[in-house]
Amino acid sequence: MNENTDMNEKTLLPEEPLVRIQNLKKYFKIDNKKYLHAVDDISLDIMPRETLGLVGESGCGKSTVGNLLTRLIPETSGEVIFDGKSLFQLNKDEMMKMRREMQMIFQDPYSSLSPRKTIRKILKEPLELHQMCDKDNLETRIIELAEMAGLEPYVLDKYPHELDGGKRQMVGIARALALNPRFIVCDEPVSSLDVSVQATIINLLMDLQEKMGLTYLFVSHDLSVVRHISTRVAVMYLGQIVELAGTDTLFGNPLHPYSVALLSAVPKIDFGKTSHRIVLEGDVPSPVNPVSGCRFFGRCWMASEKCKEHDTGLREVEPGHFTSCSCYDEVKKRASEKLRNQEKEEVKNGKESVR
Ligand SMILES: Nc1ncnc2c1ncn2[C@@H]1O[C@H](COP(=O)(O)OP(=O)(O)O)[C@@H](O)[C@H]1O
Ligand SMILES: [Mg+2]
Repeated sequence: MNENTDMNEKTLLPEEPLVRIQNLKKYFKIDNKKYLHAVDDISLDIMPRETLGLVGESGCGKSTVGNLLTRLIPETSGEVIFDGKSLFQLNKDEMMKMRREMQMIFQDPYSSLSPRKTIRKILKEPLELHQMCDKDNLETRIIELAEMAGLEPYVLDKYPHELDGGKRQMVGIARALALNPRFIVCDEPVSSLDVSVQATIINLLMDLQEKMGLTYLFVSHDLSVVRHISTRVAVMYLGQIVELAGTDTLFGNPLHPYSVALLSAVPKIDFGKTSHRIVLEGDVPSPVNPVSGCRFFGRCWMASEKCKEHDTGLREVEPGHFTSCSCYDEVKKRASEKLRNQEKEEVKNGKESVR
């Protein structure tokens, strides 16, 4: 690991997390008695220069985590420590400075780019607001940012609606880079793009990470994309992290039934040497006033009565591998049994396998 990158000129030691999330909660008030537990007590470290993938079904709280980290919304409780400083304790001026360090790239850059401004103006604004360079160097810096994001200079005179989705996302990336950030939350950055364009954007993000020593939280419901870009992966279910591990470990040896089911639904991923999909039974429970005990209980094919009462929380069960399933040692065994049974069933019914 290179200890002499720009980032480490600041205060970090290589082994210290850049972002430390501690017992973070975000409850949205629904009415006087009801709260929607969008993020419900998550703790997580994000290491410098890593890409932490955050996956889970729609509505499980991924974007809310990103919005809390970048302070787009206030927290209910908990802490986020960025480079040793508590984010929630910062005053307005300190937060303004901190904003340079942490940026966000959104799913739909179209809605986050002002339609009435040229790309040049869109890139100029953060540079001026944060006094990132003097007037004489503005144009040079704008061209440099466009180039870094893979855009040719002619694009600077265009308006967002004149660009295709991929180029618009490149503008979103150029804008995020304007303030020399260290940490970028990428919230479904390729979900609305064609597959061919997705690869371009993912490769761009990976190149930029290497060149600039960036750290990413990469939020996506697409596990193939997450597998490609992430160093580690956190799996989220109903406001909680249920599993966290290195990417290869998580994809090869998932230790939470929910991860097993998610992974089995990804095409081309060879889980347990079969390509059969575990179809989850039951509905996603409501995040409004959730019950105690394991939140996956109602949909879990291997749940026992104790899971209903007992929530172990996320804990490290193998080095660097965290799961909240109390029956994790049986997960793999049962998962393959389930797959085998399903296979038999499908052969019996003469059904085509669901890939
Ligand atoms: N401003 C809000 N007010 C009320 N509920 C919200 C708000 N934002 C998000 N939610 C709810 O919080 C939960 C998590 O949402 P979100 O973080 O957007 O999920 P994801 O990004 O994983 O799809 C969902 O049930 C969503 O409806
Ligand atoms: Mg989202």
